[in-house]
Amino acid sequence: MKIAILASEGAPYIKSGGLGDVMEALPAALQRISGNEVALILPYYKKILEDDRYPVEFVTCFDTQLGWRQQYTGILKLKNRTDGVQVYFLDNLYYFGHRPGAIYGQLDDGERFAYFSKACLEALLHLNFIPDVIQCNDWQTGLVPVYLAAEYYPKFPGTKCMFTIHNVEYQGWADGYFFDDVLALPGNWRACLDLNGGINVMKGAIETAHLVTTVSETYAGQLMQSYYAHGMEGILQNAAGKLTGITNGIDVNTFNPATDPALGCHYDVTSFGNGKAKCKKLLQEEVGLPQKAEVPLMVMVTRLAGHKGLDLLCYIAERMLKEQDCQLLILGTGEPQFEKFFRDLAEAFPQKVAAEIRFDLGLASRIYAGGDIYLMPSKSEPCGLSQMNAMRYGTVPVVHATGGLKDTVPGVDEMGQGGLGFTFQSYNADDFYWAIQRALNLYHNHPDKFYALQKTDMEQDFSWDKPAARYLELFRKMLG
Ligand code: GLC
Repeated sequence: MKIAILASEGAPYIKSGGLGDVMEALPAALQRISGNEVALILPYYKKILEDDRYPVEFVTCFDTQLGWRQQYTGILKLKNRTDGVQVYFLDNLYYFGHRPGAIYGQLDDGERFAYFSKACLEALLHLNFIPDVIQCNDWQTGLVPVYLAAEYYPKFPGTKCMFTIHNVEYQGWADGYFFDDVLALPGNWRACLDLNGGINVMKGAIETAHLVTTVSETYAGQLMQSYYAHGMEGILQNAAGKLTGITNGIDVNTFNPATDPALGCHYDVTSFGNGKAKCKKLLQEEVGLPQKAEVPLMVMVTRLAGHKGLDLLCYIAERMLKEQDCQLLILGTGEPQFEKFFRDLAEAFPQKVAAEIRFDLGLASRIYAGGDIYLMPSKSEPCGLSQMNAMRYGTVPVVHATGGLKDTVPGVDEMGQGGLGFTFQSYNADDFYWAIQRALNLYHNHPDKFYALQKTDMEQDFSWDKPAARYLELFRKMLG
């Protein structure tokens, strides 16, 4: 099957979050299934352009028409991908190559990604890569099925399009003028994109894609409810027949405690005790915490965003640190009030808390390896990947049972039996604290049971093999 995967980010080239990780592993997993030919298309951001690890060759160029704008598009092919996935970057200096800073968050993001979506379809034509299936991701590539349905279908007669929602919170809202000025679609397509008088790209994608998926089964159900769906519930209820949840995997080659180059010491599931203990010691040293083997080290790697459940942690942090024999380590950046909170907390409890307010993938790996307990109290979580990374490295998760966290971390009892981690059901600080206390109790008072739970966590298959097979199943369903 010929598969084109379109996205606004993809590791290792460019990544701001989980979407980037999925775009690293899913194309590779689909390519490994024999008979598949996978092309991945990404924007050629300044950061990729300046990175000499990613040499490219020029394939061809053309103009992409966006309303009255005629914009250059160059197709560059990555030269050193070794697993068979064809990686193409779309080159346009105005929208991507000359923009400094982050991937998202520019005033004209709507126009930038409308351009990218249309340029992707043009690029497939110029590459003469007419796919059986186009898989696109989040609102940034959400105009692909819309353009396909409105304008491009004669050129892609057999092509089916899947739209995948990684987070319903970001929908691609724009003013009404965007429809005429940027999209310049025939007037009868306005209704498809209109939501409450504005233009909503995700709505258009849901309505025009042949199938819609999201990144866990529980989240697929939650998307029907207004509490989770950020105004998209009605649209998704109408589309319920074509919505499926497929729980993400993780890249088990990248995230492997036996080989991860970021670690100072390696271990695997057969004998992890000593190796993991050494990683913990090195980590405590690296972040300036007392090197105590017997004190449980609770860790978090997270964007410091409200929906990650940080308000629960803020609420209980001081009490917990006074009452419990534990250490707490946080890595991440985000909303200023949280950055400040954790900096202040580390200052108030220097023997117990370390706050690393930055983005550091190497340290993230060392935290998965060196931690004992991984905290993830997200208010909502489409899938979440770091809880799986943590388990792969033998770090026991404590999670709010929502979205993908519910699907990937079945709850254990007081003795650590019957699941993979400690869970709490209602979004409430005391319930979170109680789940933490159960984890600490197991750590302190039943170390053999804690060890057995770590081992069970490490033994799980979080690879992309099964999810990729499910994607393929849905691709076949679309093709009839
Ligand atoms: C988004 C979601 C996260 C998910 C990731 C990859 O970042 O917030 O839960 O794991 O996408 O699908």
